Amino acid sequence: MKSIPDFLKWKADGRAITMVTCYDAATAKILNASSVDSILVGDSCAMVVHGYDSTVHATVEMIATHTAAVRRGAPDKVIIADLPFLSNRKGTEIAMDAVDQLMKAGANAVKLERRKGNIQLIEHIVDSGVPVMGHLGLTPQSVNAFGGFKMQAKSDAAARALIEDAKMLELAGCFSVVLECIPGDVAAQVTEALTIPTIGIGCGPEVSGQVLVVNDLLGMDRSFQPRFARKYANLAETIGQAVDSYCADVQSKAFPAAGEYSSKLVKAAS
Ligand code: KIV
Repeated sequence: MKSIPDFLKWKADGRAITMVTCYDAATAKILNASSVDSILVGDSCAMVVHGYDSTVHATVEMIATHTAAVRRGAPDKVIIADLPFLSNRKGTEIAMDAVDQLMKAGANAVKLERRKGNIQLIEHIVDSGVPVMGHLGLTPQSVNAFGGFKMQAKSDAAARALIEDAKMLELAGCFSVVLECIPGDVAAQVTEALTIPTIGIGCGPEVSGQVLVVNDLLGMDRSFQPRFARKYANLAETIGQAVDSYCADVQSKAFPAAGEYSSKLVKAAS
């Protein structure tokens, strides 16, 4: 079974790391049988599963519930659970309660967005025996500060600051860092500057691994197809067609057919 220390080894060996998000046991069961290295129970579940317009609506209870479901479906995979909006900004005790809930739900590690104001907490979590993944660039919990889901680190100064942030996350003990929606050359520089691996989304190929939201990869939402998320299936169409076929069969009485139910002649009592 793969584990958190493998991340460092994979980067050292030049082996690309694969990660997808997952939120439910049924999908996790499929992923458990796949070759994917790791699963992220991302706070994107607030948007993808619960229909909110940002990840600000994710809660510790929400992520813990999804983490427990994913762990039941994927007993053999490395699972990383997101610390949701503000759960790590209300003091150490509240943050550690959140970490405790996510780890007890079945995570192997937690992920935490941004560097500023988080270094001491990251050190404390790591010193408590819990691996931490950092997250820089377009950190969606800050969508309101960014004024939308926009590419980050576009200026030289912002790129330099992000590289410094990444180094500080490594020093604080993070075992890897997610880089989201930053220019490819900046992602390459971060990857070069760190010993720990970078996992990219919308950052090009020069990172240590890639992560995609599983619903994007599977083509579950016809109305949302970001440029960076390659669609490997078109499940929105497949599911829609399957349900339409089912409805047509029910209406024409083609379903259920012989063999899809039991029949037993019961003689009426005389
Ligand atoms: O919540 C999430 O899905 C994420 C990934 C996009 C990295 O943080």
